[in-house]
Amino acid sequence: MSLDPATRVSLALRGRVLTPRSDGGLTVFPDGLLLADANGVIVQIGSYRSGRKRYPGPVRDLRDTVLIPGFVDAHVHYPQTRIIGRATGPLLDWLDTSVFPEEARLSRAAYAEAVAAEMIDRMIAMGTTSAAIFSSSSPTATERLFTHLAARGMRAAAGLTLMDVRSPKALKLGREPAMKAMRRLVRRWHGHDAGRLEVAVTPRFALSCSRAMLREAGRLARDEGLLVQTHVGETKQEGRLTLEAHGYADSYVGVYDAAGLLGPRTVLAHAIHLSAAEWDRVAAQGASIAHCPDSNFFLGSGRMPLAPPVRRGITVALGSDVAAGRSFSLRRAMASAYDNAMCLGKPVDPATCFRMATLGGAQALGWERRIGSLEVGKEADVVAIPMPREATTAEAMLANLVFDTDTPNAAAVWVRGRRLL
Ligand code: GUN
Ligand code: ZN
Repeated sequence: MSLDPATRVSLALRGRVLTPRSDGGLTVFPDGLLLADANGVIVQIGSYRSGRKRYPGPVRDLRDTVLIPGFVDAHVHYPQTRIIGRATGPLLDWLDTSVFPEEARLSRAAYAEAVAAEMIDRMIAMGTTSAAIFSSSSPTATERLFTHLAARGMRAAAGLTLMDVRSPKALKLGREPAMKAMRRLVRRWHGHDAGRLEVAVTPRFALSCSRAMLREAGRLARDEGLLVQTHVGETKQEGRLTLEAHGYADSYVGVYDAAGLLGPRTVLAHAIHLSAAEWDRVAAQGASIAHCPDSNFFLGSGRMPLAPPVRRGITVALGSDVAAGRSFSLRRAMASAYDNAMCLGKPVDPATCFRMATLGGAQALGWERRIGSLEVGKEADVVAIPMPREATTAEAMLANLVFDTDTPNAAAVWVRGRRLL
């Protein structure tokens, strides 16, 4: 098949290629060529030798790297960028001691702006091109986050973190002002730059929201077709307190379901302590999981088993969960996911970890038709990761990518064919 002569190639990269495929497989080219058109859409991916016959134009030589789809961080907290490593866990103590005071600082616009810029740069440097982001409860901080995402070129879904009860005064925001701010954010940012940015409905967790807030959040998500992101079943203590606070619900997952917050565009972070019935409900509603293994280790929250979601066909993505997670690197998250599964006696292979960090994330966010893998017709969200030249097989490339993270991070990053790094 030859390239349509009318196609204007705006990105042509030569390097090793490693990508999951939509059909469940993995594609490897020891010497590959990737071409994208002026709209940033991949028009060719294959071996360099065969591709070169169809495209004689200039090519950027990246043979010291492997080209992979940009990482999708399915769960990360922007206002926690500067408190990575505060060892004050477990969860509820850590929130009170380390997280809430810092999140309150984000109500100062200048501070929020500096943190937003810092976080986005750090994510891009690690090869993350898409993220599902929790803001703070400050509408100003959230607005600044979107402004920076828009300018910097990253792909994201983000939302005001909803907290109207059982939260520090400095962070509590009532239902009406919160919903007003969310509607304003939707008008201004949802669908920005041909869908590069989306607004996500973001109840922090059931403990920080009233039943009325959760219901309104569910209504907004349904009316506007928005992604929903929240936490569930992270620790046993939080689970007990949630059922006390929401006495009408039959389970933690049931709290969200009762509010209309559970559906195919819902991403639930952690999901460590769920019953079989709760897993069935997540599956029945088509929701996805953001697995955050590094965070679960750091806060001692427990180990999420992969078998219950996988057996039920539930999509599992990976989240850095900064700042309970200690790194923005999805490579670190992949290694942690591997370790977590190994500790449970149910190992996963590195290819599965790689799929969760890329296509799995795209599927969780509902973006799998546009991104998540390097395939013709998808948008060119591409990362070049430096890799020793001798790694030419899938096994060697995955070993390096997932575990050998002493090597430098992304050498170059593109979103929709536009260079970000
Ligand atoms: N549960 C509620 N808020 C948070 C948070 O900020 N981080 C984590 N890991 N869990 C939460
Ligand atoms: Zn989180």
